[in-house]
Amino acid sequence: MDRLQNARQMIGRARDEPATPALILDLHAVERNIAEMARRMAGLPAALRPHAKIHKSPILGQMQLDAGAIGLTTATVWEASAMVDAGLTDVLIANQAVGPVKAAELARLAGLARVIVAVESARNATELSEAAASAGSEIGVVVEFDVGLHRAGVRTVPEAVDLANLIGRLRGLRLRGVLGYEGHCMLEPDRALRVTKQGKAMTHLFEVVDHLAADGIECEIVSAGGTGTYDLIAAHPRVTELQAGSYVFMDAFHGSLIPGFDVALTVLATVMGRHGDRVILDAGRKGVGIDLMLPSPVGIEATTAFVDEEHTGIDVPASSPLRYGDTVELMAGYGPTTVNLYGRYHVIEGGVVTDIWPVMARYGSDTAVEKGAGTRV
Ligand SMILES: Cc1ncc(COP(=O)(O)O)c(C=O)c1O
Repeated sequence: MDRLQNARQMIGRARDEPATPALILDLHAVERNIAEMARRMAGLPAALRPHAKIHKSPILGQMQLDAGAIGLTTATVWEASAMVDAGLTDVLIANQAVGPVKAAELARLAGLARVIVAVESARNATELSEAAASAGSEIGVVVEFDVGLHRAGVRTVPEAVDLANLIGRLRGLRLRGVLGYEGHCMLEPDRALRVTKQGKAMTHLFEVVDHLAADGIECEIVSAGGTGTYDLIAAHPRVTELQAGSYVFMDAFHGSLIPGFDVALTVLATVMGRHGDRVILDAGRKGVGIDLMLPSPVGIEATTAFVDEEHTGIDVPASSPLRYGDTVELMAGYGPTTVNLYGRYHVIEGGVVTDIWPVMARYGSDTAVEKGAGTRV
């Protein structure tokens, strides 16, 4: 019996029964978050293409599509494979796909679905073009532009125009537009400063769009945005797509930026011991993502004192009844790096585990080995 089948034995058990640490997905809270974002986006000019790196689940992706999303965004080729192989037909990889294995996989996917990938270099464009030509498929491309994050992306407007023109000439590729992710704005807790910073970032992106237009190249896609800037980015009439993802689960970091979404994802942990007001849980940083913010207990009065590899310490009032063997749910500091630690979601409805859903494409290049696209060494 594989591990997933084994986990299915939990179906019908109470929310606090899975062996800990365990990933808990509150289905009704997810549904509320998906509906809430669809409602908020309905009044804004851009369309929603939710980022699937957060959930790595075609089931959740399909729920987002059913609520009106135009397609999905992914961070890796392997997440895109998981979505396309599950039958989802419109995926944008908001990242570079470098190297022959990824290029070949992308070319395969492009034969099955509408696949678009970000590109920042002539070398990568050529590699993708060759892979698509040999697979007989067409890969959609958006030129990635650095709008201030200083991560990926072409640095200057003339470089972006040159790259777009090259892509237009390469067989097997179709230029669809531009992408500029303003991740540095998410880190700005002050809303007024965030407004100014995202405005500046989008001005850079629209400058590229204008120069491309002057060269006769129209951008059908202008993609940007995350949960922390969704309402600002999606309000620009020239942005066509929003890449927000974390709203679906909510975590401590994103919740501090954008109120109004429910905590749909938690990590179930067990109290291993109590020493006065300090309670020690069996989920540490190998069980809950701590990027950007510490995890925090949900539904009880407690503050997080520390997070070690396999332990989290929380401080509770003397009156707290928490004791050895009790369970506590932790909201992740950062959802995406929490989900990636687990192979399955325990799906909860009405306080009971009603299903087990897999977390897909967690292993980076090992995914290629599993799919037979690479060689095991
Ligand atoms: C390229 C890209 N787009 C969008 C996002 C937005 O994701 P979120 O909604 O989780 O902030 C991210 C987050 O890291 C990203 O890297």
